[in-house]
Amino acid sequence: MSSGTSVYQAVASAGDRVRSLSDQDLPAMVAIERASYRRPWAESIFRDCFRPDYQLWGVESDGGLRGYAVVACLFDEAHLLNLCLHPEDRRRGMGRCLLRHAVTAAFDAGMARMILEVRRSNIGAQHLYESEGFLRIGERPGYYPDVPEREDAVVLSLEAPGSRDRR
Ligand SMILES: CC(C)(COP(=O)(O)OP(=O)(O)OC[C@H]1O[C@@H](n2cnc3c(N)ncnc32)[C@H](O)[C@@H]1OP(=O)(O)O)[C@@H](O)C(=O)NCCC(=O)NCCS
Repeated sequence: MSSGTSVYQAVASAGDRVRSLSDQDLPAMVAIERASYRRPWAESIFRDCFRPDYQLWGVESDGGLRGYAVVACLFDEAHLLNLCLHPEDRRRGMGRCLLRHAVTAAFDAGMARMILEVRRSNIGAQHLYESEGFLRIGERPGYYPDVPEREDAVVLSLEAPGSRDRR
């Protein structure tokens, strides 16, 4: 089912929906971000993501936004820049559904792979990504500028089905 520029897909349970986001969702996105991260993105960063080469997806439940995914598409590579569920809405399957939607949309758009960085300490997110088929392809030492010590990123990648045959 689709409506205008929004694409809807049934997700974790009846009443949950994934749809594309618009700048009207910015206040809700910023609120979820601030509730979730020690170093949240500023609203201006989210605003800059509303551009043609980015895909922004949100999951809503009972009419309210619960989480979002931000994907940048560059050449044949999709980069998952942010995946976040409100703390009160976690462990209900919405993160997995949002991730699956973002991956499917990126591959449908012709991306050959999706890559992402995740904190070394973020074991829950790593479980999610690895259970969806993402593989570790490297590390970025000190990627996250924490105080007093920076934290390393683990880099994960998921190849689109048949993408190697296209090279
Ligand atoms: C990571 C995140 C998006 C997962 O969303 P979620 O809706 O809670 O995840 P789901 O309910 O779909 O769970 C999917 C799987 O993720 C893993 N997982 C999620 N949270 C976990 C946790 N706290 N501990 C261990 N595993 C976890 C599990 O494998 C889970 O599968 P299971 O429930 O069958 O065991 C969410 O925890 C979040 O927004 N965290 C803060 C932001 C963040 O760290 N984003 C990732 C940045 S790279």
